[in-house]
Amino acid sequence: MFLKNAWYCAGWDNDVGLGAGDLVVRRIAGRSILLYRKGNGEVVAMEDRCPHRSAPLSLGRKEGDDIRCMYHGMRFAPDGQCMEIPGMPRIPQGICVPTMPVVERNNWIWVWMGDPARADPDLICYAIGPDEPGWRLKTNHIRIETGYRQEIANLADLSHVSWVHGLTFGGSEDWSFIKPQHSMQPRGIETRYCVRNIPGPNFAKHLFPPDARFDIQVHVRLSVPCNFILSFAVHEAGDATSGPTNGKLLLDTFSSQAVTPRDEGSVDYYFSWGTSEDTYFPGIVDLMFNANAQAFLEDKRILEGQRERMLEYPDAPQVDIIHDAGPGRMLWVLDKLIEEEAREAAGVSEAA
Ligand code: FES
Ligand SMILES: [Fe+2]
Repeated sequence: MFLKNAWYCAGWDNDVGLGAGDLVVRRIAGRSILLYRKGNGEVVAMEDRCPHRSAPLSLGRKEGDDIRCMYHGMRFAPDGQCMEIPGMPRIPQGICVPTMPVVERNNWIWVWMGDPARADPDLICYAIGPDEPGWRLKTNHIRIETGYRQEIANLADLSHVSWVHGLTFGGSEDWSFIKPQHSMQPRGIETRYCVRNIPGPNFAKHLFPPDARFDIQVHVRLSVPCNFILSFAVHEAGDATSGPTNGKLLLDTFSSQAVTPRDEGSVDYYFSWGTSEDTYFPGIVDLMFNANAQAFLEDKRILEGQRERMLEYPDAPQVDIIHDAGPGRMLWVLDKLIEEEAREAAGVSEAA
């Protein structure tokens, strides 16, 4: 089940080029979407299905700003209207391909999958893109065979850092003892906390004396469908026992992560990570980014294993523990929005 009225990330802007062969297909919320750029650089998003006999338009060719289906040659404009049917002088009314609103922001391409009249760009999640001045960020993409609800549960509860990421981001069990307060937002949750006096993460331990201790100031913004925006600042361990750390800032890092459901059991995960220009030093972004790539494989392994067992035991009861609070709140927001849409759709069809 997917939220329709939401912006879904369709990838990094440089995934969709201007070349003749740059016809990119993304599976988004159960639909196949063709992305391409018009001559002026604007991205077009349309259903990747010819209305004649359902051939993928992504197997077609660009003709100016139009797309020609390469099965029987019908040609479609960027707004989806049929412009030509070879061998048929008159085009019957109403032949068109559904198109979707598109916005490029923070080097991401966002596609609105619901009612075009409601496509408000202000609903696009806050992020920092790799072109943002003052930051040194690297980007990548991974595919994970899991449901986006499982991704939400993974990202809304960072206690798993101690266990899943013991060889990379972890380094102690401290992440399991944090009880973050999540504030509810109209389309997600926001969480701020400090993890105090912990050893360095495994991937960077060799850079510091063995007894070095740090405070990690965490700020998470999680929004529908599954966008995870993380500010993660590493400080020297201070002596404050509540509120923000008072330790000296060592490394200010930022990660923008958009997890787009392809269907119920698969996600495309677009992410960046890096440091502020002010705290950057040579080699650090590559070190972080290589650790990140390894850590996401750690997530992939556990999430894909989890999905296998969930399919194997679909009716098995599950117990709840304290760390389910964040996931529970985020899934509550998502489900509420999905239910509102369903109620609205039912109201419209009753009235019709
Ligand atoms: S399937 Fe596209 S023109 Fe026939
Ligand atoms: Fe993780």
